[in-house]
Amino acid sequence: MVSQATRKSLLKRTAMDLITSTTVLPLLLGCLGIFGLFRLLQRVRMKAYLRNAVVVVTGATSGLGRECAKAFYAAGAKLVLCGRNTDALEELARELTASRFPQKQMHKPCTVTFDLTDSAATMAAGAEILQCFGSVDILVNNAGISYRGAIVDTTVDVDRKVMETNYFGPVALTKVLLPSMIKRKRGHIVTISSIQGKISVPFRSAYAASKHATQAFFDCLRAEVKQDGIEVTLISPGYIRTNLSVNAVTGDGSRYGAMDRNTAQGRSPADVAQDVLAAVGKKKKDVVLADWVPFLAIYLRSLAPGLFFSIMAFRASKERKSKNS
Ligand SMILES: NC(=O)c1ccc[n+]([C@@H]2O[C@H](COP(=O)([O-])OP(=O)(O)OC[C@H]3O[C@@H](n4cnc5c(N)ncnc54)[C@H](OP(=O)(O)O)[C@@H]3O)[C@@H](O)[C@H]2O)c1
Repeated sequence: MVSQATRKSLLKRTAMDLITSTTVLPLLLGCLGIFGLFRLLQRVRMKAYLRNAVVVVTGATSGLGRECAKAFYAAGAKLVLCGRNTDALEELARELTASRFPQKQMHKPCTVTFDLTDSAATMAAGAEILQCFGSVDILVNNAGISYRGAIVDTTVDVDRKVMETNYFGPVALTKVLLPSMIKRKRGHIVTISSIQGKISVPFRSAYAASKHATQAFFDCLRAEVKQDGIEVTLISPGYIRTNLSVNAVTGDGSRYGAMDRNTAQGRSPADVAQDVLAAVGKKKKDVVLADWVPFLAIYLRSLAPGLFFSIMAFRASKERKSKNS
């Protein structure tokens, strides 16, 4: 009878023989080589795609937008920084220009100030953006606001405000810049959505609705402009450590003014910006940046909707109880 230890050592020897045999080892090394070469080519192509590209970033004054601006600038892009606060935009432009990137040709960023909820201002801003560097290669629709409140206590004006900022604003800006991209047969539209563009969480109705609409609009756009050589990337992050909840609007239109626990424990905006850069460089179509819980929730919503709705109802009652206690 063969002992267990002997069987194990026999098995190990057979595996080693197989690996070091004349066919398997070269095959393994060949696969590794091809994979390494593929990754290298991907990196080179990504760098070339972003270097000297004209990149417009909305909501560049804070949080994820600010970090995206830094990441695209470091990649050698020609930046157009957009936001509502001219001083904050110019300060960021100065900070970027002062940063050192030896052996790289850097471009002084341009700034354009406008409010996305003002459609006339957004139309005018489109023309101003195009004048900065003559064209736009990549538009990053990042600006947005969040919302906290119960539907029953929320005025329709609040729903409209969130929709104007998160949906109609990016849609209007995209429509202003799209014809020039179609004419050049090149362009890339990137939109920062949210996990809440894929699933709806209680007490976030206006925000989730605006992000669902965003997902639907840019999914349609992707299909329509493929023939024009234009890329569309939708990015749906989970919680990011920014001022989003502090700046969120409540049911009566006032500012929420508090940092949520989930937001405070979220990912760093600089890390998420690196993922945005990689998704753009690889021309990804739809990216979810989250851990396994939101992924599971997205699948549950499609595969077991009854279970998903029960979990959301439980979450709503728990949140209501904790508010009342
Ligand atoms: N933080 C998260 O947990 C999280 C998760 C998923 C998705 N996101 C998305 O990430 C994007 C960036 O948000 P953030 O987390 O970086 O929040 P943030 O720090 O509050 O930044 C929001 C940016 O949007 C700008 N903005 C707001 N309303 C605007 C308007 N009417 N016109 C023009 N600009 C406006 C703000 O400009 P001002 O400085 O002028 O206010 C600010 O620059 C948003 O689309 C958000 O929905 C965030």
